[in-house]
Amino acid sequence: MNLETPPTEPGWDREQPENFRVLLVEDEDLMRSIIAQLLRREGYEIFETGAAGAALAIFEREKIDLAIIDLNLSGGGNGLELLGKIHELDPEVMGIIVTAYASVESAVEALRQGAYDYITKPFANDHLKAVVRKALEYKAAFRENRFLRRELREKYRFESIIGNCDAMERVFRVMEKVARTDSSVLITGESGTGKELVARAIHFSSERANKRFLPINCGALPENLLESELFGYRRGAFTGAMQDKTGLLKAADKGTIFFDEIGDMPLALQVKLLRALQERECYPLGSNDPVSFDVRVLCATNKDLEKESREGRFREELLYRINVITITLPPLRERADDIPLLANHFLRKYEKSLGRGTMRFSKGAMRVLLGYAWPGNVRELENTVERAAILAETDVIHAHDLPEKLHGAAPASAPPLAASGMTLEELEREHMRRVLTEVKGDKVKAAQMLGIHLSTLYRKVQRYRLENVGEPATGAKPALQPA
Ligand SMILES: Nc1ncnc2c1ncn2[C@@H]1O[C@H](COP(=O)(O)OP(=O)(O)OP(=O)(O)O)[C@@H](O)[C@H]1O
Ligand SMILES: [Mg+2]
Repeated sequence: MNLETPPTEPGWDREQPENFRVLLVEDEDLMRSIIAQLLRREGYEIFETGAAGAALAIFEREKIDLAIIDLNLSGGGNGLELLGKIHELDPEVMGIIVTAYASVESAVEALRQGAYDYITKPFANDHLKAVVRKALEYKAAFRENRFLRRELREKYRFESIIGNCDAMERVFRVMEKVARTDSSVLITGESGTGKELVARAIHFSSERANKRFLPINCGALPENLLESELFGYRRGAFTGAMQDKTGLLKAADKGTIFFDEIGDMPLALQVKLLRALQERECYPLGSNDPVSFDVRVLCATNKDLEKESREGRFREELLYRINVITITLPPLRERADDIPLLANHFLRKYEKSLGRGTMRFSKGAMRVLLGYAWPGNVRELENTVERAAILAETDVIHAHDLPEKLHGAAPASAPPLAASGMTLEELEREHMRRVLTEVKGDKVKAAQMLGIHLSTLYRKVQRYRLENVGEPATGAKPALQPA
């Protein structure tokens, strides 16, 4: 017996044919069933349909490796258009176009438009098998390549998450560890602290990165819908169930499912979910046959689940199950040192998307950002920077480009303005703002106190966007407040 491992083709040996999923779109029934049968015998999982619309629906639901598409679909659909749409959704899907012998030109066009290969009808069975196999080998090699690349970049893999403070360093260390495992992770933190971002980073740096990351918001759906989404259903299980539907647990097979706002999941459903997770299988509504699945579970909440559980609103056993590891994200006000880092990160992002040159914050603007408590955390900071990047008239974002609420009421112990490192303009604006606050928005009084003409005051008020300062709140929102 040869105990040595045989030499292996890169990638292919690790990917058994049955792990590959093929979408077959062919409107001629006979041709479709011939191809489907042939490939099923090779061990691939086949999804078949005759129409472009149905193909997209399947694609949306299933993780597909390869699409075999007839060039001339009846019913107005064009195979190349369909492939284009599929590539928009997932550029890594391999495409094979099937075309009649007469239209080799369109086959060439297919290659130009991103198909991996084409097959002309009629074809020899072996030829079809070879083309499919070659495409999937290519894909496997590509995957492996990507995997290597990812390992190389290991230390940078959470690069999209900005943070330098000790608390975030701790978060990164835990993330590094859990990414390599299959453990359930509970991510807690106030709204906007980056819980979903962390969940995605864990998935995309895990072994499951090539499968799906499926988020589900447990707070957004009514109980019965949430249940049918999770477990799926059989046709006729309830009114409106026109056809079988795969549940999210199954759709995320071999990938990661992310339960957002898990604290909002109704108790009865918590029990069902717990059972499904324990048994790694679930029953679609209206079915007695269990469907097995293999998913990694990540959850997020901004509730205190221990407290919820003590008070009977969250099942203790489910909490143990999902909370193998906890990652707690600090609120932004507790990591103010990261504010400049984050603000500049977002400024880079938005100057680019707005097509502006390199922008920066003035010292005064940065002081304002640092002095605010950020109840909406990083999300609020991001929105603020985006808004400022849109509004700023020059490449420098000044304090007056930031929304009024960030400036807060001038505290009694407001530091002397001259010592603040502000520009002259910022000093002027801040001084005017304080005066306007003091006179409760009375422009005539303010002009007198400042020793300037009323018309000058109005001009400056407009320029510095101080229109409503000091005036009693009317309840009307300023037009450009971030959401
Ligand atoms: N550390 C960070 N670095 C870069 N961007 C971040 C960071 N934290 C959050 N963000 C950005 O802030 C926004 C909000 O993050 P996310 O949606 O992950 O927050 P959340 O905790 O899930 O909020 P909610 O509880 O409201 O759902 C996103 O646009 C995200 O990209
Ligand atoms: Mg979220």
